[in-house]
Amino acid sequence: MCGIFGYVNYLVDRSRGEILETLLQGLQRLEYRGYDSAGVAVDGADKNDVWMYKSVGKVAALRELVAAQCGDPGQRFDCHVGIAHTRWATHGQPSPQNAHPHRSDPGNEFVVVHNGIVTNYRELKALLTSKGCVFETETDTECIAKLCKYVYDTNTHRNLDFSGLTRLVLAELQGAYGLLIKSVHFPGEVMATRKGSPLLIGVKTDKKLKVDFVDVEFPEGGHGSLTEDMQHLSVQGAPVGATGSLLAAPSPLAAFRNDLRNELRHSQSRAFMSEDGVPMPVEFFIASDASSVVEHTKKVLFLEDDDIAHIYDGELHIHRARREAGQSTTRSIQTLEMELNQIMKGNYDHFMQKEIFEQPESVINTMRGRVDFDKKTVTVGGLSAFLGSIRRSRRIIMVACGTSYHSCLATRAIFEELTEIPIVVELASDFLDRRSPVFRDDSCVFVSQSGETADSILALQYCLEREALTVGVVNTVGSSISRQTHCGVHINAGPEIGVASTKAYTSQYIALVMMALALSDDKLSKTARRHEIIDGLGRISAQISDVLKLDESIKQLITTELVAHKSLLVLGRGYQFATALEGALKIKEISYMHSEGVLAGELKHGVLALVDEDLPIILLATRDSLYPKVVSAVEQVIARKGKPILICNDGSDTFVQQHSGIALRTLEVPATVDCLQGLLNVIPLQLMSYWLALQRGHNVDFPRNLAKSVTVE
Ligand code: G6P
Repeated sequence: MCGIFGYVNYLVDRSRGEILETLLQGLQRLEYRGYDSAGVAVDGADKNDVWMYKSVGKVAALRELVAAQCGDPGQRFDCHVGIAHTRWATHGQPSPQNAHPHRSDPGNEFVVVHNGIVTNYRELKALLTSKGCVFETETDTECIAKLCKYVYDTNTHRNLDFSGLTRLVLAELQGAYGLLIKSVHFPGEVMATRKGSPLLIGVKTDKKLKVDFVDVEFPEGGHGSLTEDMQHLSVQGAPVGATGSLLAAPSPLAAFRNDLRNELRHSQSRAFMSEDGVPMPVEFFIASDASSVVEHTKKVLFLEDDDIAHIYDGELHIHRARREAGQSTTRSIQTLEMELNQIMKGNYDHFMQKEIFEQPESVINTMRGRVDFDKKTVTVGGLSAFLGSIRRSRRIIMVACGTSYHSCLATRAIFEELTEIPIVVELASDFLDRRSPVFRDDSCVFVSQSGETADSILALQYCLEREALTVGVVNTVGSSISRQTHCGVHINAGPEIGVASTKAYTSQYIALVMMALALSDDKLSKTARRHEIIDGLGRISAQISDVLKLDESIKQLITTELVAHKSLLVLGRGYQFATALEGALKIKEISYMHSEGVLAGELKHGVLALVDEDLPIILLATRDSLYPKVVSAVEQVIARKGKPILICNDGSDTFVQQHSGIALRTLEVPATVDCLQGLLNVIPLQLMSYWLALQRGHNVDFPRNLAKSVTVE
C-alpha cells in the first residue's frame, strides 16, 4: 500500500545529496504503491541530528522540497542510514504532518516509516499520552516512534541494544507492519521488520559474499521467559490503564532488560565476514518491493513475518523473538531475475500502456518451458508433486481480489470441464466475512499479482489453519503468498507497475488454464479438447499482437463516441462474463467513468431499464456456443434504441446486421478456442480504459484513491 525505502552505506563514501537522490529515486520506483504524500529522513549536521522532509503529493513534490530546503548537500558520510516513504493514507488525511517518517519527539530521537496498520494504536496512544507524550499527527504510526523513545528512556541502565529495544516495542504492537526505525541513539544502524507487509533487503558489495545466506539469531536459552515477559508487558487487548507493567518503575521490564543484552547472540554475520578480517564496504537497500532495488543490486533477501533485521557495522543480522519447530534458521540471499528495463517506461508514455503492449511477450513468458506445443504437454514444475492431491480434492476454491478474481472467474468453466472437480470462486474479503467452511480435502488456489494483498493473505492463513492444500498463482517472486502456500505457479509476467492490472490478468488466465491442463492430463476423454486448447495457446501471442493493432481505431472511437458519457455497460455471457466484469473494472478505476459489467442473460432482469439511445453499451459478441443468445441480447438492446459497440469476430457484424438491419460499430478480434477468447477480448477494453482516462485528463498510472498493492484489510 505504502512504499518503504531505506538506504545504508557503510565504508562507501556518499554525499548527502547522493544519499537523498538514492532515497528519492527509490521512492519514485515505489510510487505506484501509494502516492498521496511522501517523506524522507537523513542524518543532519552531526550524528545527534536527523533532518526530515515531508510533503503532500507525489515524490516529485518532495524532490522539490528537498532541493529547496536541504542544507549542505555536499557533506560526506561513509556510514549513514536514510529512510523514506510514499504514503497511501489510511489514518488521517494526506498532509505534511501525517506523512512519514514519524518521530518520537521534536528532537527526532527515533524516526520510523511504516506500511500497514497498528490496530491497537488508540490504546497505545492513550497510554503514552498519559506518560506525557505529545502526539502531532492523526496516524497510527506515530505511536511506534513514541513507544521507541519511551522504552529507551525507561531503560535507565542503557543496556538495551537497538534490536532488543525493537523487540520490546514490537511486542506491544497489534496489526500489520513493514517498518524501518532509525535513531540518533544508534547512529549508522537501522532496524527493519515486517509482519504481514512485505520488506526485502538488497545487498551490494564489490567482493563476493562468503555465503549466500544469513543466519537467523535466536535468544540463547531461556527464550520461554522472554516470551512470558513480553506477554506480561503487553498492552494488547487490555483496557487502557491496566497495562501498568509497561509504565510502572521499577518493573519486571527493568530486570528483563538487564538480561536481554546477554541473551542476544552477537555473532558475526557469516555472509559479510571478509577473508582478511577487514570490514567490507557494503550498501543495503531496504524496500517494500524489488522494483526499487534492482537498479542497485540483484542480490536480495526477503524478510519473513516477525523477522527483525538489524543492520550495523556493515553487517545484516536477523533476529527472532523465539525459535519455532520446523522453522528455517537461515534466510537466503537470492539473485533477482528482474531487469532494469522491465521497470522503466521505455518509449511508452505510461506504465499501463507499456504493460498492455507487452502482452504478446508476457504470455509467452508465462508458458515458457511449461507448454510443449509439439508434444502437446503441459508441465508446471511448482505443481508437479501436488497434482495427485489436487485431483483428489473434494473441491477447488479459488480466492482472490480485484482483477485477479476476474481471472479466476474467466477460467472457472474450463477448470470444471477439464478437471471435473467442483470449483468455487471467492472474493477474499467475502470468503473471510462468511467464515466459509473449508476442509482438509479442499484445495485452495490463491491468485494474486502482488502476492501481498491483505485479504488474500488472511484467507490463505484461514485455509492453512484448516489444513487445506494451498496453491499460489502469483506474479511477485518472494512475496508472502508465494512463500506461504504449499505449492504454486509463478505467472512470470514481469513487474507490473501500472495500478490497473493488465498483463498480469492475461498471464494469470493462462497460468490457470495451464493448471487445468496439467490436472487433466490423466484423462483420456479430454485429450482432443486439451490438444485444441494447447494449439490455441500456441497462437495466442500472435493474436494478441493483432488485437493491439486496434489501438488507433479505439482511440478514435473514444473521441467520437465515448469520452463525453457518464456511464457505460459492458455485456457478456459464458466465458465473456468475466471479460465484461474486468473491462468495466478497468474503465471505472482509470477513467472514473461509471461502468458496469453485466451478464447478458441478466439484461432482461433489470438492467434493460437503463438502455436508451444515450447509454453506451459494449457487447462481447465473439462466436462460441452461446453466440445466438448474445445476438438476442444485441437485439434487445437495439429494440430499445440502444447502439451497441460489438467486440466480435470477423463477419459477426454482418450476421447481426442481417438480424437487426442496423449498421453496428464493431471492433474485430481474431477467433480462438472458446475458453481462451477472453484473452483477446479483454485487450480492446484495456485500450479503451487507457484512452478514456487520457482523454479525460487523468493520470492513468496513478488513479485517485487506489494503490497497486492493498496490504490493509
Ligand atoms: C488492487 C489493485 C488491483 C488488483 C487488486 C488485487 O486493488 O489495484 O489492480 O487487481 O488489488 O491485487 P493482487 O496483487 O492480489 O492481484
